[in-house]
Amino acid sequence: MTDQVKELVSKCLQARDKAYCPYSRFPVGAAVLTADGAIITGCNVENASYGLTVCAERTAVQRAVVEGHTQFSAIAVTCDIKDRFVGPCGACRQVLMEFGSDWTVYLTKPDGSYKETSLSELLPLAFSPSHLAKN
Ligand code: THU
Repeated sequence: MTDQVKELVSKCLQARDKAYCPYSRFPVGAAVLTADGAIITGCNVENASYGLTVCAERTAVQRAVVEGHTQFSAIAVTCDIKDRFVGPCGACRQVLMEFGSDWTVYLTKPDGSYKETSLSELLPLAFSPSHLAKN
């Protein structure tokens, strides 16, 4: 594990501890790595009007955009499930795709072990901004 991946994984675990999830009691943490090496974290933020919940991955991306980042290279995601690797929901995969297909995705267990995959693998044949380009 490179130091950068170690830090990304560790920060997504820390972010999970900040999750606001009184309804599901299912905390999720995410950390995105920007092209220039910054790490921005997110957690899920639920709402009494359940559909307004924002996932950890989208919280991280939105925070990163506010900070001026739109180029990304990786994301680490974690939840409390110990016995298998859990991927981002479909909506979050699409939100990541908005910023390119070239993401490395680290599916992280609570003990810090991870499975490395990619957004292309998680969202094949994706709809992306390029499809909106005029011919
Ligand atoms: N959740 C995420 O934060 N990310 C995902 O990719 C899947 C689901 C959150 C939403 C909700 O707060 C809780 O997990 C249970 O669905």
